[in-house]
Amino acid sequence: MTNITLPAYAKLNLTLDILRRREDGYHDLQMVMQTVDLHDDVAVALTGDEGIECLCGDLTGDGTNLAVRAAEAFFAETGTPRRGLFIEIDKQIPVQAGLGGGSADAAAVLRALRKLLRPELLGEELERSAALVGSDVPFCLRGGTALAEGRGERLTSLRAAPPFYAVLCKPDFGISTPELFSRVRIADIWNRPDTAGMLAALHRGDEEGVLSRVKNVFEAFLPPECMEVFTLKERMRALGAEAAAMTGSGPTVFGLFRDEDAADEACDALAEDYEETYFTQLA
Ligand code: C5P
Repeated sequence: MTNITLPAYAKLNLTLDILRRREDGYHDLQMVMQTVDLHDDVAVALTGDEGIECLCGDLTGDGTNLAVRAAEAFFAETGTPRRGLFIEIDKQIPVQAGLGGGSADAAAVLRALRKLLRPELLGEELERSAALVGSDVPFCLRGGTALAEGRGERLTSLRAAPPFYAVLCKPDFGISTPELFSRVRIADIWNRPDTAGMLAALHRGDEEGVLSRVKNVFEAFLPPECMEVFTLKERMRALGAEAAAMTGSGPTVFGLFRDEDAADEACDALAEDYEETYFTQLA
């Protein structure tokens, strides 16, 4: 086998809490992360030379860079002899959106390289390479429902979340993750997510318990030009979402629905005003 194409799934943060700023400039986080079925397709082919080439539509953004960095990390970290690669990414997940699109592509490259070159590699070995590429990459590698701690790389898999529908809607601007982190003042976080309660609700399969605990502390630190996030949350609610929050460092807002028709109608209504609107299911 010399080439393979794998799906790279987007993620949502059902909760996101920022615990403290660390000496290394990162922050210790506590997040309940969830895979959704919106995905890019990542094709990886072995080539005759030593170069790593990556095509990603007309994008040269983080999708491309993280995918190449994932390949570099794979060779360096697993001691696998370097091979030439041609990576092609069919992008569906919006970029700079809080949906982990670039991280998902990187994780797909790691899974592809394991399949092509080192099928015996253990999951934890691959997760080590993933953590070198970015804080969200280990979760994207593992998928499902998980608690992410530390920088985001320390994972505990959880019982799958209830099979909600998630409507995703990205306003027409991007937010830089480091910039938003730099606005956070830990002492000003007074309304944190109930992470323990969320974990217990997931464990019980308690739908209301999960829906009522969806929360992201980043929302409190959004700059004034990003207030549309709140309008969108309200609109999501008015359209029948049983929970609504921003995912990651935004600006995408997701609404959770138990009723498929309600999710479908909300998606159609939002799509009239927002080009980047998606109907998804938790996966
Ligand atoms: O790990 P990653 O490269 O995705 O992180 C991007 C930036 O986000 C970091 O350079 C840092 O500024 C910020 N970050 C953070 N704490 C984390 C994860 C990311 O401060 N746990």
